[in-house]
Amino acid sequence: MTRELTQRMNGERVASAPVVIGSGILDSIADRVRSIGAGKNPSSILLVVDDAIATTWGARVARSWHNPDGSSVRVTECLVHASESNKSASTWTTIMDQAIRAGLDRRGVIVAVGGGITTDLAGFCAATYLRGVQWIAVPTTLLGMVDAALGGKTGINLSIGQNRLGKNLAGTIWPPSAVIADTQTLTSLSARTFRGGLAECLKHSMIADPSIAALLANAQTYFADPDPLNQWRLIDLVARCAQVKLDIVAEDPREADRRMLLNLGHTFAHALESEFAAELLHGEAVALGLVAASFASVADGGMTLAQAQSVRSQVAGLGFAVALPRAVTVDSLEFAAGFDKKREESSLTLILPVGSGGARIVRRADPELLRVGLRAIGAVESAGH
Ligand SMILES: NC(=O)c1ccc[n+]([C@@H]2O[C@H](COP(=O)([O-])OP(=O)(O)OC[C@H]3O[C@@H](n4cnc5c(N)ncnc54)[C@H](O)[C@@H]3O)[C@@H](O)[C@H]2O)c1
Repeated sequence: MTRELTQRMNGERVASAPVVIGSGILDSIADRVRSIGAGKNPSSILLVVDDAIATTWGARVARSWHNPDGSSVRVTECLVHASESNKSASTWTTIMDQAIRAGLDRRGVIVAVGGGITTDLAGFCAATYLRGVQWIAVPTTLLGMVDAALGGKTGINLSIGQNRLGKNLAGTIWPPSAVIADTQTLTSLSARTFRGGLAECLKHSMIADPSIAALLANAQTYFADPDPLNQWRLIDLVARCAQVKLDIVAEDPREADRRMLLNLGHTFAHALESEFAAELLHGEAVALGLVAASFASVADGGMTLAQAQSVRSQVAGLGFAVALPRAVTVDSLEFAAGFDKKREESSLTLILPVGSGGARIVRRADPELLRVGLRAIGAVESAGH
């Protein structure tokens, strides 16, 4: 039970990196990787694994590199604790040290097993170790499967002062040689983490494939069920969402233009993650970001009020909060948004949904649009306003 998609990267390093989505495929991962030619005959492997799943899914991936004849490629395991504060320069240094101690050379391969934090970190290590080694992404969250492990963006967070993190401020575009997604790994996710991935699915639906929206609510009722029919439904959902991202990235791998659409809601989301690091998951911040972007779009003439309200209802219907966890001022969130990477020549770029479908890039956006969106999700004016 597998679906195979192709990740084209328009003349980039990886001409055609396969994305395999299936159920129960972890045990054969080494064979699959060999058969698609990615990381062929590696000298050794550095397995960067989320510590929450090291003894379960991580161990199965590690075992798959033991050959039936008793020989095996040397696999060194490196555990990471998945938190945004750990997606840092200091964890990057730790992984690099382990790569050196493990003797990973230029034919070595980094295999990342975990959610978006783990694949972003491990991919960044692969891009920078010895000026670049191959890596393979094995996403184990819905968000990782439909978004983070695809498209080649890797990165870490940096501090922006005032005890806040600037999201993904150091990073590269260094695509994995293959992405292997096993939907069975989703069965051990908490309902909250699974739901986080639905925000990125909804984003893809709003950008390019409205038919995805109808599949989202049901997925929450069966994601933890290993029954083959439900696994097949999950594979279909992941494949449809992944295809939206792969098609857009193929057109614009370096994010000169169209790829920016994938950042719908993210300028808001990154500001919220910076302020509410302990309270919001990435997907929950994206869900709020989609609502904020919709109301900003109303102010910019791209959507009717009824359409923005309908987005808010969809987001709430998936079980997400549609207001901030606590009162925060617009000014404070605007400060954090000022560090968003989508700023160009110090002006603001926003990606806003369009009522008739799709999204558009608003360059040199009026900062008032940002404030309208933030107010719509409950940000308050400071005393001076
Ligand atoms: N590179 C990109 O293009 C891109 C795109 C979107 C998001 N991201 C990044 O992805 C990150 C968010 O990813 P995420 O939501 O996957 O978060 P995550 O990696 O923190 O995983 C969420 C939680 O699930 C746990 N977990 C992972 N797999 C599990 C499993 N199978 N069973 C049980 N628990 C499991 C983790 O330990 C963690 O507690 C953010 O840092 C975001 O910036 C990157």
